[in-house]
Amino acid sequence: MDKFKIFHCNGLKGEVAISGSKNSALPIMAAAILSSGKFELDNIPSLRDIYTMKKVLEYLGAKIEYCAETKKMLIDTTCLNKTTAPYELVKTMRASAVVLGPLLTRFGKARVSLPGGCAIGARPLNIHLKGFEDLKAKINIESGYINASIKKKLIGGTVILDFPSVGATENIMMAAALAEGKTEIINAAREPEIVDLANMLNKMGARIKNAGENKIEIIGVKKLKAVKYKVIPDRIEAGTFLTAVGLIGGRIKIKNIIMEHLPVVIEKLLEIGVKIERVSKNIIIASRAKKIKATNIKTLPFPGFATDMQAQFCAMLSVAEGVSLISETVFENRFMHISELNRLGANISIDHNTAIIKGVKELSAAQIMASDLRAGAALVLAGLAARGETELLRVYHIDRGYENIELKFSKLGAHIERIKSKSFDI
Ligand code: EPZ
Repeated sequence: MDKFKIFHCNGLKGEVAISGSKNSALPIMAAAILSSGKFELDNIPSLRDIYTMKKVLEYLGAKIEYCAETKKMLIDTTCLNKTTAPYELVKTMRASAVVLGPLLTRFGKARVSLPGGCAIGARPLNIHLKGFEDLKAKINIESGYINASIKKKLIGGTVILDFPSVGATENIMMAAALAEGKTEIINAAREPEIVDLANMLNKMGARIKNAGENKIEIIGVKKLKAVKYKVIPDRIEAGTFLTAVGLIGGRIKIKNIIMEHLPVVIEKLLEIGVKIERVSKNIIIASRAKKIKATNIKTLPFPGFATDMQAQFCAMLSVAEGVSLISETVFENRFMHISELNRLGANISIDHNTAIIKGVKELSAAQIMASDLRAGAALVLAGLAARGETELLRVYHIDRGYENIELKFSKLGAHIERIKSKSFDI
């Protein structure tokens, strides 16, 4: 397992280009299952999770070529011949469960392993499965696998989600694209990644209306076709660099950012003292000269404050002037980074689902460990802010969702060294 040596940074300077969105690219790759043909995807980031989804699709019979330099991926689904996603693959990435909807609706059956536990919460798939049942699929769970089947076709209907789950909305939207008749998803997730997936599906010939709104309408079609598609930039990576400026200070140019995808994050950054100037449609300059102020935050489904930005804000607010409160309402166990931030000298306590962050003057280096992707990103930021040399273990979590994070920070004048390891850190 690789680790990072992170050196104190006085301020960031330079420019960074945001990569393609991991959470858009994953379901978009799965959408290729819906049609036989050759897809050309663009802006696919070179990340561990993307390679895992590539393996899942290859296991199902797809032929895939990916170029990490050009970010282009060719997926040929003409030889898809399996409908099972095995435990060995699904357990390494929960998001592989989004192959269930496409497999079921195209081939009439699917067998997908239950993903198992996760560092940030239990994350069951009950909302996905209820949605398929609402479309008249038969579901049973046996020996750790979800077995889903249909008579001939899924039958369109009304699906009311108990919670606007991102994965469930994606899975059901893809399944309904080839169902018979009209489906309505009520209380649908509204994240930009849902809109991106719907745009890709519509390009393939689907009839999806109102993605990005609370109620999505899908008229099933008989067939979909392979297309070319470019995924949106990663809003969470962009938010992470913005937060880095809030924490470390300096002035950076961020390219390939869609500000409208980060409404509350940007509002909060402005409120605490980060300056953001729009240079052109997708380019901004972010800077911070004075000390940041405390604020209160509650994570919520989009357009609320993204849970995927919570850990980075905890790191940033640990040195703000005053006391901040951050309530996590989306996942039940997403505070694993807090004990590590406290190892760096932060003063954060947890009361139920709320982190109480008493701003300290500065952080100081220590040995710390990443427990999940966003926790890992938060610790990179905190390590850069801390006096001294921080050692961060288990950076493989960060590699799941950030492309070359150490190189991108190097271009901003920071110094992070990756120590490649052949042995295992326990
Ligand atoms: C997506 O996960 C993202 N992953 C997550 O990003 C993100 O944190 C999350 O949405 C929320 O925005 C991908 O897009 C690949 P959910 P997903 O279903 O779809 C509960 C990152 O760091 N729930 O919206 O799994 C669930 O337990 C990752 O990039 C059920 O109870 O999230 C959670 O508490 C981490 N039953 C809440 O809903 C279900 O059937 C939201 O989950 C489904 C979900």
